[in-house]
Amino acid sequence: LIVFRSTRVGFRVNSPGREKLEKREGYWGVAVVAFLVVVLGGTIMQIPYWKSDRAGTVPQTVNVTGRQFAWTVNPPRLKIGLKTRFQVQSADVAHGLGVYDPDDVLIKQVNVGPGVQQDFVITFTRPGTYKLRCLEFCGVDHHLMENKMEVTR
Ligand code: CUA
Repeated sequence: LIVFRSTRVGFRVNSPGREKLEKREGYWGVAVVAFLVVVLGGTIMQIPYWKSDRAGTVPQTVNVTGRQFAWTVNPPRLKIGLKTRFQVQSADVAHGLGVYDPDDVLIKQVNVGPGVQQDFVITFTRPGTYKLRCLEFCGVDHHLMENKMEVTR
């Protein structure tokens, strides 16, 4: 708006037809704003920001707690094909949870510090043994910090 105003003051050149041109310019300005409002109105409801993973119900939940030097997984058996909410916490220092699929491919990683719960949702599409490893150095036995969970049909 400031830029718009600044283009309208100062340069007063009087030429024939000026009033008419200014009027036309005004109409174009209104047309552009109206167009943008219509586009905004037509698309804003398709933005999925309000569809958070935290919203609504998720059929299964697993609690994962890290502490020097192990992950506690509760429950350790999960069903395939269901939206699964992970609630990850730390009982002591900062840890980094990595979830590995049965082929040992990292499918999710999240850092977790004491006092802060990290949530995310995974839908497992393959049965098998998934590994949980720590991906943030948290002490002398950081490399031993590992657990697993079974995903079944
Ligand atoms: Cu926990 Cu590294």
